[in-house]
Amino acid sequence: MNRIDIRRAEPRDIEAIRAVGRSAWEDAYTGIVPSGYIEDLFEQWWAPHVIRMSMRLTESQIWLVAVQTNEIVGVSHTEILNQDEAVLWKLYVLKAHRRRGVGRALIEDTIERLPFSVCTMWTEYLTANAAAGAFYGRQGFVFDHESLSDYKGMVIGVTWLRRDLGHSP
Ligand SMILES: CC(C)(COP(=O)(O)OP(=O)(O)OC[C@H]1O[C@@H](n2cnc3c(N)ncnc32)[C@H](O)[C@@H]1OP(=O)(O)O)[C@@H](O)C(=O)NCCC(=O)NCCS
Repeated sequence: MNRIDIRRAEPRDIEAIRAVGRSAWEDAYTGIVPSGYIEDLFEQWWAPHVIRMSMRLTESQIWLVAVQTNEIVGVSHTEILNQDEAVLWKLYVLKAHRRRGVGRALIEDTIERLPFSVCTMWTEYLTANAAAGAFYGRQGFVFDHESLSDYKGMVIGVTWLRRDLGHSP
């Protein structure tokens, strides 16, 4: 298998990042979210200008891409919230490249880039996306709480997890 390189994302990667996100949203969320959810929220959260603005905030936003033979096959986005906490907002791997360690490598690389004072990494996933819950459990995340979000009057469960990074603040 060809090696996977993890590197910081750059503005030139934005279209490839969107392509990974869109295809992963479609295969992970179709059937578990209300109709219209993917079309509406993908463009809201993954619009090119939104990603570009976020990428500029290099002190607080960590955008990484996983590259295999010149193709971006996975993406992650983490925000440093304060000196103690960070939240992994996005983690997506193309279907054909899953179960080969890409998701884990993106998380581990992110952790290495966090300030040492950050001792808690948060993440969240749609509760109906049971595969994501199983994956995060393997990465050392534990359940914290469930919140409910609203999409056009429909209730969507969101599960929040946290991982203790194993050093004192
Ligand atoms: C969740 C996701 C990012 C995982 O990426 P991945 O590259 O396939 O994961 P890895 O190969 O690094 O897996 C690491 C470990 O998790 C386990 N794992 C991965 N996917 C799993 C699944 N669906 N169910 C159970 N365990 C899983 C692997 O077996 C591996 O276990 P190990 O520690 O025993 O080796 C990927 O499946 C994905 O993009 N899914 C669709 C989008 C999504 O749900 N994103 C996350 C929530 S926002």
